[in-house]
Amino acid sequence: MTHGFQIAWHPRARLVLCALLFIASAAPANTDTAALNDLLGPRPQFSERDPNRVALGRLLFYDPVISGNRNISCATCHHPTLATGDGLSLGLGEGGIGLGQHRKLDPNNPPEQRIPRNAQALFNLGATSFTTFFHDGRLEADPSEPGGIRTPLGGDMVSGFESALSAQAMFPVLSPDEMAGHYSENPIAAAVRQGRLTGPDGAWALITQRATEIPAYRDALRDAVGDEREIGFADIANVIADFIAVEWRADNSPFDQALRGDTPLPAAAERGRRMFYGRANCASCHTGWLQTDQQFHSIGMPQLGPGKAARFESHSRDDGRLRVTGRAEDRYRFRTPSLRNVALTAPYGHAGAFATLEGVVRHHLDPVLSLTQFDPSQAVLPAGLEVSDWREWEDTSARAAIAQSIDIEPVDLSDDEVDDLIAFLHSLTDETWRARSAGVPESVPSGLPVDQ
Ligand code: HEC
Ligand code: HEC
Repeated sequence: MTHGFQIAWHPRARLVLCALLFIASAAPANTDTAALNDLLGPRPQFSERDPNRVALGRLLFYDPVISGNRNISCATCHHPTLATGDGLSLGLGEGGIGLGQHRKLDPNNPPEQRIPRNAQALFNLGATSFTTFFHDGRLEADPSEPGGIRTPLGGDMVSGFESALSAQAMFPVLSPDEMAGHYSENPIAAAVRQGRLTGPDGAWALITQRATEIPAYRDALRDAVGDEREIGFADIANVIADFIAVEWRADNSPFDQALRGDTPLPAAAERGRRMFYGRANCASCHTGWLQTDQQFHSIGMPQLGPGKAARFESHSRDDGRLRVTGRAEDRYRFRTPSLRNVALTAPYGHAGAFATLEGVVRHHLDPVLSLTQFDPSQAVLPAGLEVSDWREWEDTSARAAIAQSIDIEPVDLSDDEVDDLIAFLHSLTDETWRARSAGVPESVPSGLPVDQ
């Protein structure tokens, strides 16, 4: 394109166009990256963690001993070979056997239902700017709360958590479907069912006891805590958080390298980057270095699985943020996910509806159409459960309500532009985490088998 345009442009438009052409041709790429550096703000900060605590947290993360029936660890749903998720749309918790797509029912102890949401990846959660957890943000750093953390448990929680990331560990260990098991199966599950969470015979104390009965854990936790006080559940949670923060830091992707001025992005990714921060408007929600505003939006994701009903309800809806705030406008809103390593973490969305990156990106471009044309066969679900996964999906009025809630404007992109956008998303992958990470331990102090 040159200045020799022969169209009768409005003079002002012509001036603007000339100015833009001037900027585009004269400005070297590094001015552009400088502007983006400014837009992204300060780089994520990661605090120093004690290597001994990290090593201890690693063992506890992979050890099924902290689950009610000693049969599932954090790693079962957040496994490094599955990019810290489980590779499934909706996983199977307690009562499943095996990993990822090989996970199946234990015939002696089959789970009652699927886990209602997609297991999130655990990359970069140690960044100090990461303060909102879970798909609905029900756990948040909040300086106005005692302990600095807001959770649905209110005052009914143990104290001593060093961060919201560490407080997060309170939840999976108490969930009957995730790790605790069911009522009659073990004392932890019984305590949960009876509402005994805190106190010396509460569920968290029983879980702590499971670990401290094992000398290797007792000694290492004692070292971490000092001699002054008793070891509590928060101490276990704190070292697990230390481990997650160090092990899955992943902020040295080609995108980071390009923005440091080291290596420019390949041409397609560079075009995609401009699209992402420009016309495609992705960065209105996927803001900052980690590509998340940590806010809640409805992008009209298809709903599958059991949903999130309270004990006395029978629907299979997932109201998302509404369940936290009680505000009607928050129905179907979910936290904007970070897009770091997103190319590795399929399936996508809070219920894992989309099997591919292209699928979920195209969904954003025209969510209502995508919702209508959604192909349920792409869901990755372990077989064998006698449940109806598509109750909510098949209910046309429920689908219309989801479509109504959408907060996102359609964007018109060509196929080539979509390819560029996907190339950009790939440039957010930091492959160096595998080489840096400690990986799966061969064994754990309890002697229980480790998912390899
Ligand atoms: C049965 C599978 C399962 C197990 C076991 C499990 N998780 Fe999760 N994890 C999930 C799911 C599903 C979510 C999303 C839940 C939601 O948003 O409601 C999640 C969310 C998280 C998050 C929040 C991530 C974010 O971006 O907000 C962290 C951190 C986490 N899990 C760590 C752990 C730790 C630590 C353990 C062990 C103590 C553990 N998980 C055990 C399935 C599991
Ligand atoms: C209105 C805010 C908003 C905008 C604009 C937006 N997104 Fe999203 N995005 C979200 C939310 C919210 C989710 C998660 C929805 C859910 O789980 O139900 C999401 C999910 C994703 C996912 C799946 C990530 C995962 O881990 O499951 C990808 C990839 C993605 N967005 C890329 C993009 C791209 C590319 C654009 C621009 C074309 C874009 N987004 C624009 C809010 C937005």
